[in-house]
Amino acid sequence: MKLAIAFDVYGTLIDTNGVLETLEALIGDRAEAFSRTWRDKQLEYSFRRGLMQRYLPFPVCTRQALEYCCAVHRVALTDGQKQRLMGAYGELPAFADVSAALAQLKASRHRLFAFSNGTREAVGALLARAGIAGAFEGVVSCDDVGSFKPDPAVYAHLLEVSGVTADRAWLISGNPFDVIGARSAGWHAAWVRRSDDAVFDPWGIEPDCTIAGLAELSAVMPD
Ligand code: LAC
Repeated sequence: MKLAIAFDVYGTLIDTNGVLETLEALIGDRAEAFSRTWRDKQLEYSFRRGLMQRYLPFPVCTRQALEYCCAVHRVALTDGQKQRLMGAYGELPAFADVSAALAQLKASRHRLFAFSNGTREAVGALLARAGIAGAFEGVVSCDDVGSFKPDPAVYAHLLEVSGVTADRAWLISGNPFDVIGARSAGWHAAWVRRSDDAVFDPWGIEPDCTIAGLAELSAVMPD
């Protein structure tokens, strides 16, 4: 039977640090710290909304996290500048290794999905912009469930959409919380450790494999 290989999007296929250039133009050398807080807070807001069952779409988490960052970093941005940053978030680039790795995997018999907290519109636009939309059978968005990773309901949703059982599902993600969520739901998972500084959460729930980039993926996937 074919595997369903679900790729996380932000931080795995798409580089969220792509906002740095726009940020640097606006706030100079504070850009890197600001970008890190923005991403961390965006995810924290998604976790909290999931727990509280107060769902609002991921772009709202991103926008509210931006407001938080401006306050905590004491950066006064105009509405126009905030819009420019949100625009940059909608045009983030793919990591350099993505296109070739997807082409190689697509040549295998497996079924590939983009699987994200992001809305179908936002993710579809990013994948199309990066020229990789055609690699996927579909975009599976947590927005359809009204919750966020790592809620078990969103992993169950991908199984339902694909008709694949958990033991035939693989998550490929650069986000440890996502890998742990998938493993906890009975999936297989590969952690894409895109930086030497990245640390995996010591929960005793491990990925099946760890790779430094997507170029290594087809070598570690079962046939
Ligand atoms: C996603 C988040 C985890 O793409 O970045 O689902």
